[in-house]
Amino acid sequence: MANSEVTFIMIKPDGVQRGLIGDIICRFEKKGFFLKAMKMVQVERSFAEKHYSDLSTKSFFGSLVEYIVSGPVVAMVWQGKGVVATGRKIIGATNPAASEPGTIRGDYCIEVSRNIIHGSDAVESAQKEIALWFPDGIIDWRSANHSWIY
Ligand code: PPS
Repeated sequence: MANSEVTFIMIKPDGVQRGLIGDIICRFEKKGFFLKAMKMVQVERSFAEKHYSDLSTKSFFGSLVEYIVSGPVVAMVWQGKGVVATGRKIIGATNPAASEPGTIRGDYCIEVSRNIIHGSDAVESAQKEIALWFPDGIIDWRSANHSWIY
């Protein structure tokens, strides 16, 4: 079912430290997406390296890993129709200089190296990232069948 699409969203240490957790959750909820799972976690360096393993040859890989382990992050799974692509639109372009006002990065940050939030770039990478961050699976706590809520 299309509405069962899920994505992995992480509020990075700067987003947590600047008190933006509520605002970010609010934007996804107001859009109509469903918060399926959430946890605050301080990750180990090896875990951050695994999450960003596709970028291991990039010049910024070391500083990206340093950034992610610099403080707690909030890991979330969001569900809804087209949530991967729409989630990326809500987040805005990777480089905040190119992010439109009204997007999370467009509104709240300036540097690509401190860009507040991560969102999966494809349905397949979302599945991979969710399996990495929530290895014990996700509790399906929503028992009522509210078909108007994605
Ligand atoms: S690339 O080079 O096209 O693969 O990179 P891109 O897809 O634009 O970004 C992938 C993730 O790397 C982060 N990034 C950086 N971090 C620190 N410093 C620099 N210079 C930098 N450039 C890109 C970028 O925010 C992406 O992280 P996530 O967490 O996926 O948004």
